[in-house]
Amino acid sequence: MTSAFTSNAADLETPRTFKWIADGFAFGGDYNPEQWPEHVWAEDMALMRRAGVNSVNLGVFSWGLLEVADGEYDWGWLDRVMALCAENGIGVNLATPTAAPPMWLVTEHPEIMSVDDRGVRTAPGARLGWSPSSALFRAHAVRFVRALAERYGSHPALRMWHVSNELGNENDRCYGDETGEAWRAWLEAKFGDIGTLNAAWGTTFWGHRYSSFEQVQLPRFARSVHNPGLLLDFERFSSDALLAHYVAERSVLREVTPDIPITTNFMVLGSTRVPDYARWAEEVDLVSNDHYTDSASPDRHAELAFSADRTRGMAQGRPWLLIEHSTSAVDWQPINRAKLAGELTRNTLAHIARGADGALFFQWRASTAGAEQFHSAVVPHAGVDSKIFREVERLGATIKRLAPIVGSRVAPARVAILWDQDASSALSSGKRPSAALDYLDAPLAFHRALTQRGIAVDVVRPADGFADYDLVIVPTLFLATTHTTAALAEFVEAGGHAVVTYFSGIVDETNRVITGGYPGAFRDLLGISVEEFHPMQAVETVTLSNGWSASVWIEQLNLRGASALATYATGDLAGVTALTRNLVGAGSATYVATRVDHSGLLELVDDVCVLAGIHPIATIEEGLEVVRRRSDSASYLFLINHADAPRTAIASGTDLDSGVKHEGSVTVAAGSVVVLEEAAS
Ligand code: GAL
Repeated sequence: MTSAFTSNAADLETPRTFKWIADGFAFGGDYNPEQWPEHVWAEDMALMRRAGVNSVNLGVFSWGLLEVADGEYDWGWLDRVMALCAENGIGVNLATPTAAPPMWLVTEHPEIMSVDDRGVRTAPGARLGWSPSSALFRAHAVRFVRALAERYGSHPALRMWHVSNELGNENDRCYGDETGEAWRAWLEAKFGDIGTLNAAWGTTFWGHRYSSFEQVQLPRFARSVHNPGLLLDFERFSSDALLAHYVAERSVLREVTPDIPITTNFMVLGSTRVPDYARWAEEVDLVSNDHYTDSASPDRHAELAFSADRTRGMAQGRPWLLIEHSTSAVDWQPINRAKLAGELTRNTLAHIARGADGALFFQWRASTAGAEQFHSAVVPHAGVDSKIFREVERLGATIKRLAPIVGSRVAPARVAILWDQDASSALSSGKRPSAALDYLDAPLAFHRALTQRGIAVDVVRPADGFADYDLVIVPTLFLATTHTTAALAEFVEAGGHAVVTYFSGIVDETNRVITGGYPGAFRDLLGISVEEFHPMQAVETVTLSNGWSASVWIEQLNLRGASALATYATGDLAGVTALTRNLVGAGSATYVATRVDHSGLLELVDDVCVLAGIHPIATIEEGLEVVRRRSDSASYLFLINHADAPRTAIASGTDLDSGVKHEGSVTVAAGSVVVLEEAAS
């Protein structure tokens, strides 16, 4: 089974297509054979075949083992592993191992390491840590990447290049002198002259007007807060600096191996919020993402669904790859719970349902030494006579039977949630009315409510356009460009329905407040004007006149044409409007001034879906997650049961795993997944 993908990579004149990296869904994991004696490798191959593994990420952290001293290479072991993979039909996503600089390099050149905001240089001994703006590091990295590409570029096992690893994870922001030079060059390229920068950042505040770019410092440790305009640009610069490193490696790979696709693994919901992945996605041939569930969260499957939909949004609807997740516990959360029986299967198939054309685990065999000793793997410390290996083996067999789905797309959604990296960066750049505001919170809450109702939803960047949807959710979109303001107004005018939440449209792209009543960017469309925010203490809640409960945030809101749908029944603002709707043109604009709890959000979602004429993908019982993928000739329905009892959906088709035909309804066992090939309609 092969399928072709296009790439918008900027340094190609025409989009290129490439052969899919695996036979069917890519299934496997990070393979680190260098941690094991060679006799284990033969066993690995046999076990991989047993588990249906057809794809591995290889060499991710092995620079120091491949270049043992400056310019001295030891390729022998990797030659042997590559040959074994080829013999066993296992495709290799070969990593440029620049995420882990060799000891000889960091010892000789500690100046390549990043510096924190208090001037402390990152010590050698961990991974990443290097400064994306270090010219010396870059030179060593691209030199090694060239040697690697020249050695393995035409190897039969090679399917894809995996550039570095989670760029930014442990080197997201650098405050060193060399970075300072790059920062000032970036600012000069952006603003052209210092007067424009002064105007954009509002540097008259505290009399901080600059007379030259040389005066602009990195936002190093200070006893109060830096200028929010500067902070936002520093986030953008830091994302660009990391991306520039990726592009430098990519250029070498593309020159040496023009036909091999290139990716780098994103952390779409990772803890560092620096990379602007929607922008980065334009530079990769295949969008790939790492996703680890929060083992403490009872709603972790809802977060997974959001992450997968957001990744698909970055891939602009094209299939993408889940390049890392875990079979069970990770080792970096405060308490690392093991996954429940069936959970790794549900997680894998939930990503696939939402458009992934493969799912790989970190890692193949659990390490006994090194920093990740207690991280789960496909082959755990206990060996293959284990719950995890048995479940992976079963899943591998299922995944093979699902192969006809590869290359299909998630069926078009009529609802979009807007997500913007600049809005996220701006929300955390500077002092804000409440530290309890988290950019992830409202998008995730809406996504969860829509998903619970069985409604398909896309997560898209405002700049990519949303005119084709029927319902657009604008959750805490703190920063809005004039383009977004105009596009949302046009969307509603033309018959679209918008739901905007509290603390959206507050600042422009320079992180400067839009005056005249909040939310400046959307006030006219919403027919409201907010005078003042009243953030609440963590323990406080309010009740609305419609019975909903809310927390975190309320506002002094005045109606300017909109109708009030609910007011606060309790709290500091009892009697003030909490929920409004403005009918504009052929559409509507609803405003939610407070953080409504989950049951209230379900009612809100029901209400606006009726208004917009949007229906669920299928009628489902609570606890089922439903997603549809389609190709030109077929339709596939994924039903994932997150409940601890059987759940039924109104659906018909053939179960691709068991071959059983269902007519009218399908009951999915507790914790199980059913994938139906639906009859052509
Ligand atoms: C990822 C990383 C992997 C591994 C994994 C553990 O962030 O890319 O190399 O460390 O976390 O969960």
